Amino acid sequence: MPDHAPKGLTRLAFGGDYNPEQWPESDWQDDVRLMREAGVTMVSVGIFSWALLEPAPGAHDFGWLDRLLGLLHENGIRADLGTPTVAPPAWFYRAHPDALPVTADGVRYEFGSRGAICHSNPAYREAAADITTRLATRYADHPALALWHVHNEYGVPVSACYCDGCAAHFRRWLETTYETVDAVNEAWGAAFWGQRYGSLDEINPPRTTPTVGNPAQALDYRRFADATMRENFVRERDILHRLAPGIPVTTNFMTALSQCDSVDYWAWGREVDLVSNDHYLITDGRRTHVNLAMAADLTRSVAGGAPWLLMEHAAGGVNWQPRNPAKAPGEMARNSLSHVARGSDGAMFFQWRQSRRGAEKFHSAMLPHAGTESRLWREVVQLGADIESLTPVRDTRTVADAAVLWDWHSWWAQALEWRPSEDHDARERADSFYEALYDRHLTVDFAHPEDDLSAYPLVVVPALYLATEAAARNLREYVENGGTLVVSYFSGIVDEHDAVHPGPYPGALRDVLGLTVEEFSPLLAGETVRITGPDGARLTGDVWTEIVVPRGAETVWTYEDGLAAGRPAVTRHRLGEGTAWYVSTRLGARELDAILGTAGDDAGIAPRAELPRDVEVVRRTGASGNFLFVINHTDADVKVPLESHGTELLTGERAAGRLAVPAGGVRVVNLDA
Ligand code: GLA
Ligand code: ZN
Repeated sequence: MPDHAPKGLTRLAFGGDYNPEQWPESDWQDDVRLMREAGVTMVSVGIFSWALLEPAPGAHDFGWLDRLLGLLHENGIRADLGTPTVAPPAWFYRAHPDALPVTADGVRYEFGSRGAICHSNPAYREAAADITTRLATRYADHPALALWHVHNEYGVPVSACYCDGCAAHFRRWLETTYETVDAVNEAWGAAFWGQRYGSLDEINPPRTTPTVGNPAQALDYRRFADATMRENFVRERDILHRLAPGIPVTTNFMTALSQCDSVDYWAWGREVDLVSNDHYLITDGRRTHVNLAMAADLTRSVAGGAPWLLMEHAAGGVNWQPRNPAKAPGEMARNSLSHVARGSDGAMFFQWRQSRRGAEKFHSAMLPHAGTESRLWREVVQLGADIESLTPVRDTRTVADAAVLWDWHSWWAQALEWRPSEDHDARERADSFYEALYDRHLTVDFAHPEDDLSAYPLVVVPALYLATEAAARNLREYVENGGTLVVSYFSGIVDEHDAVHPGPYPGALRDVLGLTVEEFSPLLAGETVRITGPDGARLTGDVWTEIVVPRGAETVWTYEDGLAAGRPAVTRHRLGEGTAWYVSTRLGARELDAILGTAGDDAGIAPRAELPRDVEVVRRTGASGNFLFVINHTDADVKVPLESHGTELLTGERAAGRLAVPAGGVRVVNLDA
């Protein structure tokens, strides 16, 4: 297995997607000269180049790529080389129109964008393997080659195809998973509404139906679609491993929950040599730096804590949201360095030079339409220098204080139709709990519900609607052995087939929480409830209430009004050496602070009250040192206490006592041993 770091890269990765095929070759020299000026160490090339590499079936033209890689090499810039399998050429679709994916409504997509792929299609699979083989054969030993970049963002823009080929492939997947049609009927609860199948041949993808379809079938189809994409990734990866040993293989993820919901990144993280991620700020009024931190923490977690790589982010605005503001001065650097603080061994962008043509010409780039006489370019050059001074953080690991459980399968199940309330949203719960932890200045690892949690004093479960028996056992053992667990409502409800666990809610988590739930009573839009806690403190919840019956748990907060008035709203259960909290209504991030504060006390986590809000403090540590990142997202200068002396890497100054961090600035202290 190749090492995870891009081969031959001796610094952090800094650069971006480089699409020189959009420019006359005479401009390339200029590009590379400016790359050197900006301190670029690696660029991603060839991601969408299939039509240029194979202009006609079987006719290949690698000359331009040879010259490009040669030029990069001469200039000391490493190459992250794409397999272009996200963008098959027009001639391919002419010959294989059935490789175009079909929606659940039966509409076949057209050629003319990108990512129009039916992942079950045999001709596509064969052609993808062929072009990958040719690239690997030609460039395996190229001195510029550092990393393989397979495909692009599996899972978007098409999350699943519903064509007849996929139907046949789905039946094979069902046969492998369940063996018999009776086992499928049982798992899917097909007795309901007369949905029983007599043979696997009768089963189709969950295409559009008159009213809501079978939820377990829909859930399995998401698993199937994810597994099918992964199969195609693994096929390309294995070709690259075989023909180009020693070059790590990645594919760019999109872990932000608001940007891709169709891929189980726990499973994908195990298949890549290096986890890489694309992240874009969603400018919907939420605190973008908190969402960024969450995506970065989730990425590090799917990498098992190992260093990962920020493959794409934007130097300024994007062009695919309704409104696309530019980044404020310093914001690009804060974004980049927050990713680095949270484990990325570099900061790469989409893209190097802003396009003149095509769908993304109004998307920012490192080298904007305005050219080098621009604030954006000056900030890019400064960031390149900053990234260079952070070389010592390479290969160190981010230190976490607590874990948040996250499971894509549970999210998929919870998003199915006909639930108690459409206002309850698993992603929103994860966002809010994360935000509350962020505001307590805690660094979060994400974990799968069946992972070993013993390293974490505090584990938060924002939304675990689907919980297996194994997960339930795991959480129980975690608490019995001294852990502190905080669980939000509508968790532990169903098993892996979306079947309600037998007995009262929350089936899988009754024991560990020491309670049962007799009835859900979600609130109407705009309705709220008040809850009262220790010393008469009051909080307001919305979206959800329920009738909780303590069975060992103590009541800490009580509903003051609503159907559950006088009954427990938040409970604490002491079990073995540990404690399990339950929060039965929806509290926003600020309200959750009160609960997480007490749970944090149970967990023995010292409050970090001396740190101002929106000052992000994260630690990376390893053989090369112990690094403290301080990112000031506020517009005031701040001072942050240091536990020991050290050297600030961006200014080169000695640091001791209280570290001054200017408004909007970043400081990284290499703490003395
Ligand atoms: C994605 C893609 C890139 C580009 C950017 C624009 O992340 O991978 O090719 O389209 O979005 O934000
Ligand atoms: Zn298909």
